[in-house]
Amino acid sequence: MAQIIDGKALAAQVKAEVKTEVAAWTAQGHRPPYLAVVLVGDNPASASYVRGKAKDAAEVGINSDTLHYETDITEAELLDLIRRLNQDNTVDGILVQLPLPDHINEQKVIEAIAPEKDADGFHPASIGQLVLGQPGFQPATPAGIMEMLTRSGIPTSGAHAVVVGRSNIVGKPMANLLLQKGVDATVTICHSRTRDLAAITRSADILVAAIGRAHFITADMVKPGATVIDVGINRVDDATRERGYRLVGDVDFEAVRDIAGWITPVPGGVGPMTRAMLMRNTLNAAKRAT
Ligand code: GUN
Repeated sequence: MAQIIDGKALAAQVKAEVKTEVAAWTAQGHRPPYLAVVLVGDNPASASYVRGKAKDAAEVGINSDTLHYETDITEAELLDLIRRLNQDNTVDGILVQLPLPDHINEQKVIEAIAPEKDADGFHPASIGQLVLGQPGFQPATPAGIMEMLTRSGIPTSGAHAVVVGRSNIVGKPMANLLLQKGVDATVTICHSRTRDLAAITRSADILVAAIGRAHFITADMVKPGATVIDVGINRVDDATRERGYRLVGDVDFEAVRDIAGWITPVPGGVGPMTRAMLMRNTLNAAKRAT
């Protein structure tokens, strides 16, 4: 039976560290760090993530506002808002919740954010620094996963790490972090066109599932003793729940936990850690601004 990697508990550790650092920072006479969160439209999942970020910010002493716009905001209006936030010296970090409506070019919006305020680490400058192994803002989900591996004492050097999913915000940066000198994993990236996926995942010492499909990773795809990290947050209908759905990961948790050595649950795994890392990025943005 796998050991559970308790994302909530690890996130609480990281948040406690950030809270202490924020207190030390303000004790030196600085104003508290400030994060501007931009939310467009009424995607219920996005609204829920943004509420979680605001709650975590308050918890660690970071100020934040959620700037909420209707779905019909134009790309030009959104770019103009970002320009104003870039110029505002009281704003340390800027986060635009994704996805954006189809009429807005997401990449254009990400690139409009000043790299020194890129709390999400999605700007090409941040991604470039990550790939080069230079200090910079790292996307919160893969950075949080690295933190979970380290804090759980899971060895990475020489391990075969298989990342399933090639998104810009998880799969690609995750693979690059696992590849860094000092981490030293041997990395394979798989995606929807990968041939004989199960044969590859079965050879993984560390398996990161970031596909976005409920219960995609089944027990037969996992090597006994492997570390299984589940990035998925999928809503599946559940009439027994008051809200009519429940959240499940990309991993068939109940079956895979019998095989794996370590496993992250959903909810309570990668999600809370992602938010904690965003708080750390925001604090770092405030410190760099001064
Ligand atoms: N949408 C899904 N994950 C994320 C994230 O980490 N940051 C932002 N801004 N949007 C997301």
